[in-house]
Amino acid sequence: VSTHSPAVSDARVDSIEPETRTLSVGWEDGQRSSFHAVWLRDNCSCAECSHPSGQRLLDTLEIPDDLSIASSRLLDGGDVEISWSPGGHVSHFSTTWLRAHDYSRTDRTAPRKITLWDASIAGSLPVATYAEVRSSGRALRSWLTAVDEYGFGVLHGVTPQPEEIFRVVDLFGYVRETNYGRLFNVRSVINPTNLAFTGLALGAHTDNPYRDPTPTLQLLHCLSSSASGGDSTLVDGFRVAEALRESAPEQFDLLTRYPLHFRFRDEDTELETEVPVISLNEHGDVAAVHFNNRSKMPVILPAPLMERYYAAYRTFGRMLGSPEYQITLRLAPGDLIIMDNTRVLHGRTGFEAAGSRHLQGCYADRDGLRSRLAVLDRSETARG
Ligand code: OGA
Ligand code: ZN
Ligand code: ZN
Repeated sequence: VSTHSPAVSDARVDSIEPETRTLSVGWEDGQRSSFHAVWLRDNCSCAECSHPSGQRLLDTLEIPDDLSIASSRLLDGGDVEISWSPGGHVSHFSTTWLRAHDYSRTDRTAPRKITLWDASIAGSLPVATYAEVRSSGRALRSWLTAVDEYGFGVLHGVTPQPEEIFRVVDLFGYVRETNYGRLFNVRSVINPTNLAFTGLALGAHTDNPYRDPTPTLQLLHCLSSSASGGDSTLVDGFRVAEALRESAPEQFDLLTRYPLHFRFRDEDTELETEVPVISLNEHGDVAAVHFNNRSKMPVILPAPLMERYYAAYRTFGRMLGSPEYQITLRLAPGDLIIMDNTRVLHGRTGFEAAGSRHLQGCYADRDGLRSRLAVLDRSETARG
C-alpha cells in the first residue's frame, strides 16, 4: 500500500534579497528559496493582472524580456511587495501563497491521495447507501473521496429500476454517451455484438480501450440477479502493475513501451486505437492500465521482442486474475459499482441462461467526479 499526499508546512517569509533575475527568500524555519523575476511577475494577482473570476488577464508574452526587480519590500506578516522595471508595475505576494508555490523545495508531491489495494480490502470496501449519499453532502463527499482514493466504490439500495443509474451519475457528473447509447443493458441476448451480452465469464478487463479517450468511469447497476453465477470481480490494476515493476522490471518495461491495438466493430461502428497496457506519466508513475482480451488486435512490435512481450503480457494477466489481488462480490438487485476504468479492472464469472441477470451500465468522466468532490471539500473547509 502506498499513499501520496500533499505535504504543506507553513513557515513565514523572514527575509528577502533581490538579485538580478531572482528574489532570494529566507523562511522562518531557516530554509532559503529562490523565485525567478519572470515567474513572480507572471503570477501577479493585482486587479490589472487577474480578473475577479480568477482567470488571468496578464498575457505572459507581454512581460518585458529585460524585466528586473526595481525594488522589493518585506511587509508585516511576511508578505512581499515588488516594483518592476521597466514600467513600474507593483505586485504583492502573500507569504502563504509563496510557501504554497515554492518550487525550490523538492518535496512536492502528487495532488491527490491514492491507496493501492489487494484482496485484503474485501473486509472494508468503500461502500455507502444510496439514501445517505443523496441526502447528505458529507456522506457523498466521503464516498466520492473513497472512490477517488481506491478507484472504485459500491452503493447499496439504488432503486432497481431502469435508468436509475442516471440519478447516480447526477450526484457527481455527466454521462459519457457512446455507440452503446447513454446506457447499455448487460444481459444475455440472441446474436450479441459483445461478449458482455452473453452468459460467458469475462476475465478482468477495462472497458472500451478502443475508444480515444477511454471512458474514465464506468458504473454497473444490478436490476436483477437470480441466475446462478455472474459474480463480479475487481482488481486494482495500479497495485498489480507496481507488483510487476517490483518482481519483473523488464516485463513491466515492455508493457509500458509498446502499444497494443484495440478494435471494436459492429454494423455501424468501427473504433480502433493504440495504447500500451501500462501507461506512465512524466514522473514514471503508473497513470493508466488498458487490458481487454476481447478487443485486442494482433500484437505488432519488433520481431526479436515478441516472445518476451507475450511472456510479460501473460504474467501481468495472470497476476490480475490471482486471488491475491482480486476481490469477488455478488451484486444483488439495488447494488451499484463504480470503477475508475483506467485503473480498476472488472470481470464476472459465467452465468446460466436459466434465471435472470440484468445490469445497466454507463460511462462518465472522472474529471467531473473530482470537480464535484473539490466543490464539496470547499464547503466542508468553509464550515469547519
Ligand atoms: C461490461 C461488463 C460485467 C458483468 O458490461 O462491461 O464487464 O458483470 N459486465 O456483467
Ligand atoms: Zn499586476
Ligand atoms: Zn466490462
